[in-house]
Amino acid sequence: MRILLIVGGGIAAYKACELIRLLRKLGHGVRCVLTEGGSHFVTPMTLAALSEDQVFTTLWDLKDEAEMGHIQLSRQATLIVVAPATADLIARMAAGLSNDLATTLLLATDKPVLCVPAMNVRMWQHPATVRNVAQLRADGIIVLEPDEGPMACGEFGPGRLPEPQAIVAAIEAATATTASLAGKHILVTAGPTHEPIDPVRYIANRSSGRQGFAIAAALASRGARVTLVAGPVSLTTPAGVDRVDVQSALDMAAAVDAALPVDAAVMVAAVADWRVEAIPQKVKKGTAPPTLTLVENPDILATLASSSRRPALLIGFAAETENVVDHAIAKRSRKGCDWLVANDVSGDVFGGGENTVHLVTDAGVESWTRLPKEEVAARLADRIAETLS
Ligand code: CTP
Repeated sequence: MRILLIVGGGIAAYKACELIRLLRKLGHGVRCVLTEGGSHFVTPMTLAALSEDQVFTTLWDLKDEAEMGHIQLSRQATLIVVAPATADLIARMAAGLSNDLATTLLLATDKPVLCVPAMNVRMWQHPATVRNVAQLRADGIIVLEPDEGPMACGEFGPGRLPEPQAIVAAIEAATATTASLAGKHILVTAGPTHEPIDPVRYIANRSSGRQGFAIAAALASRGARVTLVAGPVSLTTPAGVDRVDVQSALDMAAAVDAALPVDAAVMVAAVADWRVEAIPQKVKKGTAPPTLTLVENPDILATLASSSRRPALLIGFAAETENVVDHAIAKRSRKGCDWLVANDVSGDVFGGGENTVHLVTDAGVESWTRLPKEEVAARLADRIAETLS
């Protein structure tokens, strides 16, 4: 697809560079329009080098306008993305101004527009911005929620540009044309589980939930009804997904059971293998360190595989650090699932944006190159759609 990317004037403009790189890596064409403000943060040269295309900066360039008028720019795009969208740019879009190239083509376009805000938390929460964002949404523009966290200005709160991988996922969701999973109910588990030691302590693992959430988003964007059973993670619920939050493996097993029957289940969660034998009160510091007695948790995937309510397609995930493919082949038959997606988690996979996976099926092993987690999700969702159709 061809993305027309409008880069506004905020410090997050540097992340637009990473967005271009990701989109190009996925084979999409990117053409950039840089606003006057944006050009104070990144240069046309940077964007031209990354997009491998001409960069447009002004409405008043006779040569640009003769070769590629602003109407033409929007005509050639599948989708227009505004990232970062500053408070000023959002206000001008909401008011329907056309006082520069970016706003003129936004006013002239009939293409879908995805707006990715980034600004100081107070500017984002100001009633004027709240009003303007509501207006954009009422006008049919997709406006992403900014991320929460420490900001370049030293404050903390919502206002950060979402990570480039999340923007790619939103772009794919906005342009998904086929509801290839319409009418299907799919269960996804994601994240870690927390196993309480006592009322104030727990055992956890390093799963961030990002891969599972990306899969839930990809399935929902293809029209599936998605139930996402999520362990404790700090991630936003993808659009159109029914989320059930759980803490422990036992909670997760119960939530999975309650979601059945489903057409397919994708069990991405890193479920704790053991829980601690219940300690009803807070363990106090004594002379000797306490001994924890571990009890094995139920294997949710294996239980589902052998149950009478087994879905038509059951997919397990495996986090491995060595002999990834051999362990994955053995794990698939041990668990009784149809497909097993093995990740090599020996590097920065937990919490990171990319994943290298091997898909083990009846037909053999397919090794995918290292991809953004959203792209792994998109490919898997397409395969699920092919199989269920
Ligand atoms: N799984 C599960 N219930 C458990 C443990 C794992 O449903 N109690 C599921 C996971 O969601 C995943 C798959 O089983 O889909 C494989 O999980 P993994 O932790 O890799 O496998 P284990 O069986 O725990 O094997 P090991 O830790 O020995 O590699």
